[in-house]
Amino acid sequence: MSAPAEPGTSFRDLIDRLDGAKALARVTRPVDARLEVIAVTRKMHLTENRGLLFQTVKDSPGPVATNLLCRRDYVGLALGIDGPDILPVLEAGEITPQKPIKVRDAPVQEVVITDGVDVARDLPQVVHCPEDAGPYITAGIAIARDPKTGTYNASWNRTQLVGGDHARIRMMPPQHLGQYQASAEAAGKPLPIAMVVGAPPALMVAASSKIPLDASELDVAGGWQRAPLEMVPAVTVPVMVPANAEYVIEGEVLPDKREIEGPFGEFTDTYVDPAPNHVLRVTAITRRRDAIYHAMLAGGAEDITLLGLNLQIEVLKRVKAFAHITDISTPGHIFGCVVSIKKANDEQPRAVLMAALAAHSWMKVVVVVDDDVNIHDLREVMWAIHTRSTPDTGLYHLPRMGSFPRADVRAVHKGKFGIDATVPMDMRDAFVRRSFPQMDEIDLNDYID
Ligand SMILES: Cc1cc2nc3c(=O)[nH]c(=O)nc-3n(C[C@H](O)[C@H](O)[C@H](O)COP(=O)(O)O)c2cc1C
Repeated sequence: MSAPAEPGTSFRDLIDRLDGAKALARVTRPVDARLEVIAVTRKMHLTENRGLLFQTVKDSPGPVATNLLCRRDYVGLALGIDGPDILPVLEAGEITPQKPIKVRDAPVQEVVITDGVDVARDLPQVVHCPEDAGPYITAGIAIARDPKTGTYNASWNRTQLVGGDHARIRMMPPQHLGQYQASAEAAGKPLPIAMVVGAPPALMVAASSKIPLDASELDVAGGWQRAPLEMVPAVTVPVMVPANAEYVIEGEVLPDKREIEGPFGEFTDTYVDPAPNHVLRVTAITRRRDAIYHAMLAGGAEDITLLGLNLQIEVLKRVKAFAHITDISTPGHIFGCVVSIKKANDEQPRAVLMAALAAHSWMKVVVVVDDDVNIHDLREVMWAIHTRSTPDTGLYHLPRMGSFPRADVRAVHKGKFGIDATVPMDMRDAFVRRSFPQMDEIDLNDYID
């Protein structure tokens, strides 16, 4: 699958491109928004791992899409970037941002609901896990402005749909949205936000990024899609929104008000306990007439791909000074990464390990391998550890450094470690891999009855 030269700039482009690459499966039989959509998504993620478009969903005003950016090459397909080039290209895009432009035409405002808005009626009621507190928006990008500087931020924030104009949003500092809200609250004011569902793919990637507080994800998204985001003013809050999005939920985060939110089946594959979180008063829901809703399974392939890709970019920024980096992956989960290098001396893996472990506070385990290992296949990574690592000298343990900070599990995320699974320079001849030249041409269907 090779990516088209031009980036796609809308959620619909993304769906069309996945469809064209046979990376999208359509579900025509009616499905239940409560549990069934996500159960099918989880099964898809663990098997074929393609995007899904549920065309008829009960309790939903329209279709629901899931598992779209579920592989890094699908992000490349969306943004017109091929293979491992995606990391240096996105890294370069961060330093060539493009500011959004204001347009007149707003498909996302074809339907505008302000009077009597009801989040339990006007949005799909997707329930993810049996013990969740209820339906949640999980693929909502909260767009807000820094009350002090006016800088725009975009981030994913799970939001529990209570009913009427009432929702609860998870947004804690040090996350930038949480910092904005804390500033607004200190001034006794609500924080206006617009939550975008079905966003341009570059904005989906930017909303998971680690860019600094004083930079705008909207500008970075423009850099990544090599064209400015096209925006229109929201209807009830002073925030601009992407004109070509599918749904926008407008509202304000109330100051000095918290309510118990959760439980919720989180990205670590466990439930987070109910806890006080912020309250969102919804002032409007706008959407396309035939809007496609987007739902994301926390910890599913799409969530991990988006968060993982941004961690890979952060790691690349820090390790590239120490060795020739061929690729970086985050297989399994996002508390670690695998870096493949074209090694020039035996000191490089250690330098790369240390730099990668320092790239993000959540980074707990890093494995460095040679460039003949497919780092997107966990079997290959384990193979490299089994056959090439030297525990006597190639294991690095950094005690007394925390990683994932969630209070209830913090005690197990203490310390970091790295594994050098590269071949020692003076033993290279003993580790040359076999090859099976005919394999690429073989179609198993020609052999199996
Ligand atoms: C699908 C998805 C859901 C997320 N949900 C939340 C959330 O509910 N609360 C939160 O603080 N972060 C959440 N995150 C992580 C943030 O959106 C992400 O870390 C982002 O980069 C924050 O960036 P910022 O601090 O620049 O705003 C989620 C990420 C994804 C991909």
